[in-house]
Amino acid sequence: MVPIDKAGQSISDRSAPRDYIAVVDFGSQYTPLIARRIREAEVYSEIFSYLEPTSSIIQNDPRGIILSGSDASVYGDSPPHLPESLLELEIPILGICYGMQIITDALGGAVAPSKTREYGPATMEIADLSHPIFAGFPETTRVWMSHGDRVVLPPPGFEQLARTEGSEWAAVANENDIVLVQFHPEVKHTQLGHAMLRNFVLNMCDCKPSWTPTSFIEQTVREIDSIVGNGVAIAGISGGVDSTVASALVHRAIGNKLQGIFVDTGLLRANEVSNVEESLSKHLEVPLLVHDASDRFLNHLNGVTDPETKRKIVGEEFINVFVQEAAKIDRAEFFVQGTIYPDTIESGSAGLNSAKIKTHHNTHIPDTLNLQVVEPLRRLFKDEVRQVGLELGLPDELVWRQPFPGPGLAVRIIGQLSRDRIRSLQIADAIFDEEIRSEGLDRVINQYFVVLTNIKTVGVMGDARTYGEVAALRAVITEDFMTADWHRLPYEVLARTSSRIVNEVPQITRVVYDITPKPPGTIEWE
Ligand code: XMP
Repeated sequence: MVPIDKAGQSISDRSAPRDYIAVVDFGSQYTPLIARRIREAEVYSEIFSYLEPTSSIIQNDPRGIILSGSDASVYGDSPPHLPESLLELEIPILGICYGMQIITDALGGAVAPSKTREYGPATMEIADLSHPIFAGFPETTRVWMSHGDRVVLPPPGFEQLARTEGSEWAAVANENDIVLVQFHPEVKHTQLGHAMLRNFVLNMCDCKPSWTPTSFIEQTVREIDSIVGNGVAIAGISGGVDSTVASALVHRAIGNKLQGIFVDTGLLRANEVSNVEESLSKHLEVPLLVHDASDRFLNHLNGVTDPETKRKIVGEEFINVFVQEAAKIDRAEFFVQGTIYPDTIESGSAGLNSAKIKTHHNTHIPDTLNLQVVEPLRRLFKDEVRQVGLELGLPDELVWRQPFPGPGLAVRIIGQLSRDRIRSLQIADAIFDEEIRSEGLDRVINQYFVVLTNIKTVGVMGDARTYGEVAALRAVITEDFMTADWHRLPYEVLARTSSRIVNEVPQITRVVYDITPKPPGTIEWE
């Protein structure tokens, strides 16, 4: 766990596990996948931007370094550069795609643009099966290519390990344990990519697999105990898996010195407040203070239609209400927050950040509260948070809750909010939820919800003309919520949901199904 000060800086980094791999990010959308694949081999990994000095990257003695891909070209305008002296470290290095090209360029090999971008699957023939990175591999395997430039001459001292039809130097290595690959082992389409990364960290870097939910819990609980000690902590609880697991960990360390605060924004799903209250009191034993601030939120959002303005207002108001409630808790010194690793990546404090798409709301408490922030999940990916939750004994209903955005229904109601529209959406959403559950699809689909589109259309019911709103159903399959595909819902489920919504929600006259993947769409509509 890394407690951070209010500016978001690390106060202590003593929890970095000893056996770990540093991933240097040159801005590839796949970088978080590299870190995840390493952790799946039970070895801790952490992402660093290439802009960070080498001294930070090696501060905790990584056993190996992986350089990510990038959209950039080594011959482009000011391309991402290698951190200084990185290649002089005497630990194994794996360069992937751009990571390969930049090392090739730095060590005297040659990189050239291809006439066409090589994108998609390729069959790779392995020339040297005795190299530890290909231990246990067959002679040929499928890999995933995505590159414009390619290595046309490896640097002196590098030998060919593998080739594909389009890339003579698909994998090369030298005697100093630098391995360079043109393909992407981190993506699922590379058949044995996972095995290759595993070979790198276990065989070449000699890491011991020890990054497990149990070891994480033991270490984190010890640290929370030593940091918070006899102090009082408050936790912002939303009912989502992150804040629940963060609170459960802190509760295990300090017991009832943790006080949970739940702010009802009035922008939650039907019965959400009572469901969360009930399941938290049953399973978490954290004392929970629920504050109904729905009037306040609706007043502030009155007349607002711009998505970013809605997000900003909900975010700011949430902090105001939270601060007001937190001030009522005696002797509070610590603030527990369920920030997870992708949040820190998105906010740009780890690795690089691609263009900001929308402001994701996280509570940043103001200095005046004078609370020290405790973020026990700051290093975990979502699936790791779930494993920790299960290991802590939390029930499936809490651990597998689908994500719900901080701004809540405000970003699922296009245009102006009103109590009537919120109520209509809550009913439609509950119908969709019932139908998905009755089909047993609630654990198959990663996120599903209804959106009010702000488009009015004409309908007919009985003999009468109706004029009401179009509701859109959204149901997506995703591993990490960074990319997603729409779920091929059975027609029967769509038919029943549509019929029930139009019949049971008078303000809705038409239902459509959103079949946009992410990208190019985002999961939420605003
Ligand atoms: P998008 O719409 O960006 O959403 O594809 C990706 C995932 O993030 C959730 N989401 C949020 N979560 N605060 C959150 O905690 C937010 O402001 C927020 N906005 C979107 C969204 O529901 C999806 O799971």
